[in-house]
Amino acid sequence: MNHDPFKIFLEVQLALPRNGPGSKAATQEVYGLLRGLPAKPRVLDLGCGQAPEAFDLLDVCDGHITAVDLFEPFLDKASARAKAEGVGEDRLAFERGDIEELEYDAESFDLIWSEGAIYLMGFAEGLQAWQPFVKHGGFVVVSELTWLKSKRTPIAESYWGNAYPTMGTVASNRALAVAAGYEVIGTMILPLDDWRDSYYGPMREAIADARHRHGPQPAYDEMEDEITVFEKSAGDYSYVFYILKRP
Ligand SMILES: C[S@@+](CC[C@H](N)C(=O)[O-])C[C@H]1O[C@@H](n2cnc3c(N)ncnc32)[C@H](O)[C@@H]1O
Repeated sequence: MNHDPFKIFLEVQLALPRNGPGSKAATQEVYGLLRGLPAKPRVLDLGCGQAPEAFDLLDVCDGHITAVDLFEPFLDKASARAKAEGVGEDRLAFERGDIEELEYDAESFDLIWSEGAIYLMGFAEGLQAWQPFVKHGGFVVVSELTWLKSKRTPIAESYWGNAYPTMGTVASNRALAVAAGYEVIGTMILPLDDWRDSYYGPMREAIADARHRHGPQPAYDEMEDEITVFEKSAGDYSYVFYILKRP
């Protein structure tokens, strides 16, 4: 029997340690590139999911993080982790909210951080919409799926041409950031092994486990298709961190 594909997808996602490619090393390396933050910055993590990046940032950042997501089961898992690790609300607060309808006062944050979520709004649209909430001289750091090569394997071109037709290149995204009023401090490509170690590896295991329980489902095949495209075209694209400053 086929189950609801969305429920199948969510069950797999909830079994993963994170809900998009990324790593502690990459998050902390990018944070280390920011210069001029106050000693205790106020940080907003948008589309946090289970908030892996927020926990990783807290190791290297002495400030306060507000982590926002729409999906309560992710927030529940993140809150349980905070409790288990003794991270109090004085360091990390979770809010259920819509990243497309933020309601903070202008210039409330020193840093807006978002891994794997700005695509939901569109890269340029998200950068424009979020800018007012960061202080002048503060930073916006986002990771965004990005083409790295101009000559690409047909399988990647066709898959992502359908799944994410507006995917840009580093150059086109830098230009969008500048057009949105930011200074581009730098970019960093997420290493391809981080996709495997922290996301696709656990996803393969979660799919195998779920398939064992529910039997074959088209949604499992679709998730595996994305992994196959990655493995057959590795290097054509990756997540790229864009490190942007609001002048
Ligand atoms: C690809 S996941 C990234 C999660 C996390 N940052 C990570 O790297 O593991 C995108 C997240 O955006 C959340 N999301 C989707 N639409 C949203 C919206 N309109 N407002 C807030 N969060 C949203 C999803 O629930 C999901 O947790």
